[in-house]
Amino acid sequence: MSFFAVQKGCKRVYAVDKASIIDDAIKTAVLNGFEKHLKFIKSDIFKLNLREKADVIIHEHIGNFIWDEDMLAKVGFARDRFLRPGGSLIPFKIDVYAVPVNYLSSIESSACFWRRKQYGIDFSNLALKTLARNAFWLNHPQQVNLKDSKTFLCAEKLISTMDLMHDNAIPKKIEASFALKKNDVLSGVCLFFEVHLTPSIRFSTRPGKKLTSWGRFLFPVLQGASSPEIPRFSLP
Ligand SMILES: C[S@@+](CC[C@H](N)C(=O)[O-])C[C@H]1O[C@@H](n2cnc3c(N)ncnc32)[C@H](O)[C@@H]1O
Repeated sequence: MSFFAVQKGCKRVYAVDKASIIDDAIKTAVLNGFEKHLKFIKSDIFKLNLREKADVIIHEHIGNFIWDEDMLAKVGFARDRFLRPGGSLIPFKIDVYAVPVNYLSSIESSACFWRRKQYGIDFSNLALKTLARNAFWLNHPQQVNLKDSKTFLCAEKLISTMDLMHDNAIPKKIEASFALKKNDVLSGVCLFFEVHLTPSIRFSTRPGKKLTSWGRFLFPVLQGASSPEIPRFSLP
């Protein structure tokens, strides 16, 4: 990201990372002739000291599950400490959307496979239980590869907005309600997000949009399960 900043004409760029990847970044900068405008600092952001404030802070701490890289704490700290009044944050806002889906994951399909007799042999006693338990990690969210919105059971809803110019912490609780039709089969709630880089430039991880480095993730709903270990699946 610091290389892009130099390419776009930034005069002085502080490239901060606490990990050893920064040693490789220094070599790449030299290889590309970027080092004149770049100052690499290997530091935890919370321990960083700079003698000047920045016009722009570019950051990327969006976790695979949006909130799992503690973005707001790090960005909030950098913003309050290092951004000049009137300066810009890139990205400055992230909208999170949720939608109920009837997605059958490959593992779930696999569980369905073992539910049927294979070559006349019934494996359902052990295999289904084990697969089902692994498939749903006892109700933990998982990355899914939803290619489009065909599995959506209704329209998505905006459930949370992270205003990175002001927020310092994620909401403790998010509530949303959706109206499903009578025979809908719900396998989980899919979350995706839209990242606002500038007021006119944004990208979305919505199924059907161009792929990004983030997946979509699914909070499984164990519909009709009497025990969290043995969810019921609808056969495709
Ligand atoms: C998802 S990567 C961002 C990629 C990278 N900045 C780039 O230009 O493509 C997040 C980076 O933030 C760094 N990081 C995480 N927490 C940090 C902290 N508290 N202080 C400094 N760097 C941190 C990690 O080491 C990792 O390299």
